[in-house]
Order: sequence, then structure tokens, then C-alpha cells
Amino acid sequence: MSKRILIFGATGKQGGAVARELLSAFGGSATLYAVTRNSTSPAAQKLEQQGVNLVIGDMEDARPESTLKAAIADAKPTHVFLMSNEKVGTFSKGSFCTQELAAANRMLDFLEACGTVQYIAMSSVAGCHQGARYSMPNFKVKEDIEAALKSRGMKWTVLRLVTLMDNFVDKELGGLTRTSVTGLANNSAMEMWYVSCRDLGVAVATCFAKSSDTSCEYHGKTINLASQKLSGAEICSAYAKVIGAEAKVKYTPVMGPCLMSMGFIMPDFVAMHRYWEKVGYPIEAPDQEDFKELVPEPWTIEDYFRSLGDRIPM
Ligand SMILES: NC(=O)c1ccc[n+]([C@@H]2O[C@H](COP(=O)([O-])OP(=O)(O)OC[C@H]3O[C@@H](n4cnc5c(N)ncnc54)[C@H](OP(=O)(O)O)[C@@H]3O)[C@@H](O)[C@H]2O)c1
Repeated sequence: MSKRILIFGATGKQGGAVARELLSAFGGSATLYAVTRNSTSPAAQKLEQQGVNLVIGDMEDARPESTLKAAIADAKPTHVFLMSNEKVGTFSKGSFCTQELAAANRMLDFLEACGTVQYIAMSSVAGCHQGARYSMPNFKVKEDIEAALKSRGMKWTVLRLVTLMDNFVDKELGGLTRTSVTGLANNSAMEMWYVSCRDLGVAVATCFAKSSDTSCEYHGKTINLASQKLSGAEICSAYAKVIGAEAKVKYTPVMGPCLMSMGFIMPDFVAMHRYWEKVGYPIEAPDQEDFKELVPEPWTIEDYFRSLGDRIPM
């Protein structure tokens, strides 16, 4: 049976890269569907032009008359890329986590009710199992969502992400100018693990390619996706190389010492930064082997910057 693949978040960083890689891997041999709240946005329009069918609805709409359930059922998906949407709470710890978990459970209900879904590849966060221990409700909720996925009757693979290279073009999480790189690490010497959304897309495409009506190679696996451990200084030098900058590129943290000292503002964000500083993502050698199996040629940070083409400030 030909695959009918439903992609959540397809107008954003993760889902957008998943859609691109699925289009490239399957071409016309699979039918793609993208969930969006807004069919007129430039990203949604572009997907439609590429032959992706739009499925309109809001994951957070909990009303019985929510149209998303019927729209998903109409698509009759066999394969699904699922992700949840985190909002950072201001002042109150974990304020949006109940909502995030409820939306994820609602989507699992909708997908189960279709009766057509064979396999779900879901993105999560590396280290989410340490969320409770290090007081990070935004990580703990990902662990809860993983448990919800595993409790259903559909086959699954969890792809746990480290910090996204793609944050560097997201104005809330980073920024690029001719002379500076803004990122989530707290200073230029601090090392963190990174992965590109393109590698997530390749991993999802591999999982789906290796599944059929009778077998599913990666069912039941939880895999950390991490391609490079880098300091801010190394990221700046890769960026300088790609843009051919003569001048030195300076690293600027999103959360400088002043914001970090005000733990009462965005407490989830601050707790996550402390975790990165003190503990770091739990990436070990076996993770690297699993990752390379799914993504044989992962992108380096330099590959990622090159991929931006015209979007790099010149
Ligand atoms: N940034 C990182 O380093 C990092 C690392 C690991 C995990 N994560 C996780 O990644 C997730 C965010 O992914 P992203 O960076 O790809 O997000 P993004 O670029 O901000 O895009 C969000 C996507 O989700 C869709 N969306 C948002 N709310 C929706 C709703 N209520 N109903 C339906 N669709 C909705 C948007 O679609 P429309 O606007 O078209 O409706 C858009 O396609 C978060 O859960 C975060 O915890 C991030």
C-alpha cells in the first residue's frame, strides 16, 4: 500500500525539514499531508505548491466541534510525524505543560480513531527523562508525551533532539549578523550538542522507508539525534568561514548573566540553561552509532550555515 504521511508542524523548523526530506525521499510514491492552523501563510502556500495537502486545524482546540479530528480522518494517514509545541512560561514554572500534554494526547486520540495509522515517528528532547530530577517541567512533559505515545496501539519511534542548529535563524532563540552569532549557550566557551532539522528529516524519512505493512525496523526505539558538540567560539569560526568574514565574529548569549540571575522570569528557560551548564545532554558513543545509522551523512554546523544561502546576512 502506498504511504499517506501526515506531518505536524510542517510550516515550522522541524516539520518543514521533515516535509522537505520526505518529498525528496519519496517523491510521488507517497502522499503528504501537513497540519497547519493557517492555510494562507507563505509556508503553507509553499507546501501546497509542492504538492503537499493541507490539513487545517488547531491542536489546542479541545472543543467537541474541533474540525481537526475530521480533517485528519479524511487524510487516512498511514504514517505520521508528530511533534508537540512548547510555550515558555513566564513567572510560573511549567505553566504550559498541562496544555502541551493535553494537546499531544488529543492528537494521539485523533490518530488512533482514524484506524489507518500504522506508524508514528515523534520528536522529543534528549534528556527529557531527567526533567523531574533537574526541575525542568518543559523536559518532563516530553517524557510524559513519550509515555502517552508508547501506551497506544500504533507502532512508534521516538527521535530525541538536542539543541537545533536552526535556532540561529529563529529570532527568539538566536540570531545572525555580519559580526555576531547569538545562541543558547551561555558563553562562547560553553560546549553544547547540536543537530540540524535536516538531520531529523533524514531520520524520519529513513524510519518510514524501512517500514512496510508487515515490518517496521525502528519500531520501539528511542534514539538521540546529536551531530556535533560545539562551543560558541567554534560556531562563530564556522560562521565566519561560510560568510568569508574578515572581521572577527562575536558570540552573544540569548540568556546573559543578568537574565540568568533573574530566575523568577522564565523559570523553565533558566532551569534548562542551568542543566546545560552543569549536566549537558546525555549523549554517549552508542547514541552516535544509532544516529549515524539513521543519518549516515549528518550536517555539520558549517553545512547548516551554507544551507542558508541568501538567508545569511551579507
Ligand atoms: N529549539 C530547539 O533547540 C529544540 C530542541 C529540542 C526540541 N524542541 C522542541 O521543538 C518544538 C518546536 O518545534 P519547531 O522549533 O519546529 O517549532 P516552530 O518552528 O516554532 O514551528 C511550530 C510549528 O507548529 C505548528 N503549530 C504551533 N501551534 C500549533 C497548534 N496549536 N496547532 C497546530 N499546529 C501548530 C505551526 O504551524 P502553523 O503556525 O502553520 O499552524 C508550525 O508549523 C517544541 O516542542 C520544542 O520543545 C526544540
